[in-house]
Amino acid sequence: MSHQRKIPKETGWDHSIELLREGYYFILNRTGKFDSRVVLTRILGAKTICMVGKKEAELFYDTDKFYREEAAPTSAQKTILGQGGVQGLDGEEHRHRKAMFMSLMTKEALNEIQQLTKEEWQSYINKETDEVEIYEAAKVVLTRIALRWTGVPYKEEEVQYWASNLSPLFEYASKIGPKNIKSRWSRQKLESKLEDLIQKVRKERINVDRSRAFYQFSMHKDLNGELLDQHIAAVELLNLIRPLVAIAVYINFTFLGWFEHPEQVKAIKNGELNSEQFIQEVRRYYPFFPFVVARVRKDFTWNNYIFKKDTVTFLDLYGTNHDPEIWDEPDEFKPTRFNGWEGTPFDFIPQGGGEFDIGHRCAGEWITIKILKTTLEYFINEVTFEFPDQEPEYQMNDIPPKPKVIIKMKG
Ligand code: HEM
Repeated sequence: MSHQRKIPKETGWDHSIELLREGYYFILNRTGKFDSRVVLTRILGAKTICMVGKKEAELFYDTDKFYREEAAPTSAQKTILGQGGVQGLDGEEHRHRKAMFMSLMTKEALNEIQQLTKEEWQSYINKETDEVEIYEAAKVVLTRIALRWTGVPYKEEEVQYWASNLSPLFEYASKIGPKNIKSRWSRQKLESKLEDLIQKVRKERINVDRSRAFYQFSMHKDLNGELLDQHIAAVELLNLIRPLVAIAVYINFTFLGWFEHPEQVKAIKNGELNSEQFIQEVRRYYPFFPFVVARVRKDFTWNNYIFKKDTVTFLDLYGTNHDPEIWDEPDEFKPTRFNGWEGTPFDFIPQGGGEFDIGHRCAGEWITIKILKTTLEYFINEVTFEFPDQEPEYQMNDIPPKPKVIIKMKG
């Protein structure tokens, strides 16, 4: 006979400091300690449910049970996310705004992204004769791809300005102190720059490519047929440009994976392994986005656990991608696991789970895979380099980790 029970609860006033200290292991440490895939703790003074696993992901993405409005903490809205963007919308309003993003993700757009990725890496690498620090190089290359693909007007000499203000949005969002302030400043600067450009395009003071995101978002109408508030249009444009540049974190891990497992890249060269399998394993194995956040819509019981209305809830992305119930030897880097892999929208979730159009799953997942695959294939087939002696390291409480990986050009 089943009966209702309370979610196992961690005692103590607040565990935000432990979250900073334990980073990607915070949720796994607690689900392990209580031997439960759902646990209750306190973060930033609020009761917070933490969950890990496939069934738990299915529950988390059930919009009858969870909502997103005001779910993300204000500090995240002032740094990585912005205020008023698609991440905090629910229901019809979310679907309408999300369609604005998904309408960009066409086959043609993916082909163009592939072309831009190749062109920008070529023009960067052709100028290099010595050592290249992959993460730093990738940020510049991706900034150029992001500006070109979205059609944001920019001058050549502004690329560095964009790159150096975009990266603090995701590098420092989880930090405290001066880095966090830098992240907020960068957001304010970029939002006001974009708002100014949006105003100009609306008043037809500048001419831009009408097929691109910059024009489309500037002229997008909400459900009431009104143009988006120009601040929100700027936030949404940053929701394209910022994560495009953040792909640098995965490019860096792609090279770390290459450095740590050269036999796997050899297998790609020999035609024994598909480059996409390597990329998928990079996204599963290495840490990037730790968890996603929602709130309980109404009281309900699941697996006999009582969920209380409005409770903040974290779904562990890193933990689910390392869950031994889903993955064989989860802590091994094994790209072949993706050979014929048949997943569901809830088990492999480095960029969130559920559906693209009606849920909050990352709008840019296909683009991310395309850029990573094109980058890997470009370096395998067209660049002659070696890894000099080095010991790239990263900490599991640095969100996101950016180990220093260097390549040395040959020939
Ligand atoms: C760098 C690699 C990326 C990672 C790790 C990543 C991760 C994520 C995660 C975890 C979410 C939240 C899912 C949820 O709330 O359930 C998300 C949402 C989103 N991502 Fe990405 N993302 C990446 C790249 C991109 C790119 C390249 C774009 C656009 C070009 C993009 C656009 C978005 C948007 C618009 C959302 C909000 C979706 C919604 O709330 O409905 N992301 N992403």
